[in-house]
Amino acid sequence: MAQKHILISLAIFLSLLLESSLAKHNSQTITYIKSSCNGTLYPNLCIRCLNKFSHSTINGPQHLAQLALSVSLSRALQTRVYLLNVAKELKTIDRNNKRMFLTVQDCVNQINDSVDQLTQAIKELKRLNQFNTIINDKVLWHISNVETWVSTALTDASSCVQSFPGHRMSKRVATIKVKAKNVAEVTSNALALFQRYASRYKLAAAGTTKKP
Ligand SMILES: *[C@@H]1O[C@H](CO)[C@@H](O)[C@H](O)[C@H]1NC(C)=O
Ligand SMILES: *[C@@H]1O[C@H](CO)[C@@H](O)[C@H](O)[C@H]1NC(C)=O
Repeated sequence: MAQKHILISLAIFLSLLLESSLAKHNSQTITYIKSSCNGTLYPNLCIRCLNKFSHSTINGPQHLAQLALSVSLSRALQTRVYLLNVAKELKTIDRNNKRMFLTVQDCVNQINDSVDQLTQAIKELKRLNQFNTIINDKVLWHISNVETWVSTALTDASSCVQSFPGHRMSKRVATIKVKAKNVAEVTSNALALFQRYASRYKLAAAGTTKKP
């Protein structure tokens, strides 16, 4: 009898738990993420990465770009850790393969640069916050800085991918390539989401300067 009660209360508890987690899944946010990701080069990846924020409110395109950049930075950080370990391994175990070690070392530097550039981009985007809806040269300056930082981070991650051409490679190298490619793709998406946000400012600025 007591066991039955426990089972019933457990069932109720579980159903409440499930319901609250479903309720938190904000369908409006999901729709917003999907439509914003539509303009990116890798929409499915974009949706997959941003879905983890779907339980909270996203306050417009600037906030979305900020979240996308934070995903990009965390992937770059993870990849840097992985690359540093592989470089260490190659140096100690695989002494005969100096060329591979140097290629991986180059990649470490490139992804390290991406980490730095994405960090700068996030700082710069936060500086944009203080301007609200004001459009002036300072705003356009911060916008262009974010674009420069993110595009450079993208270029660096892409050159890491390109430093491993062909299909014949060890599992370790293949993993590096997959990870670097992922950094490049999420960064490309973040750039597209940022440009979506920035385009309003640019259009508005063009509109105000055209007038005599
Ligand atoms: C994505 O964009 C295309 C064309 O730009 C449009 O036809 C489609 O409905 C959009 N999909 C979503 C989910 O917004
Ligand atoms: C990463 O770059 C920073 C400077 O931006 C440098 O101080 C650090 O040594 C670099 N780390 C690696 C692992 O190359």
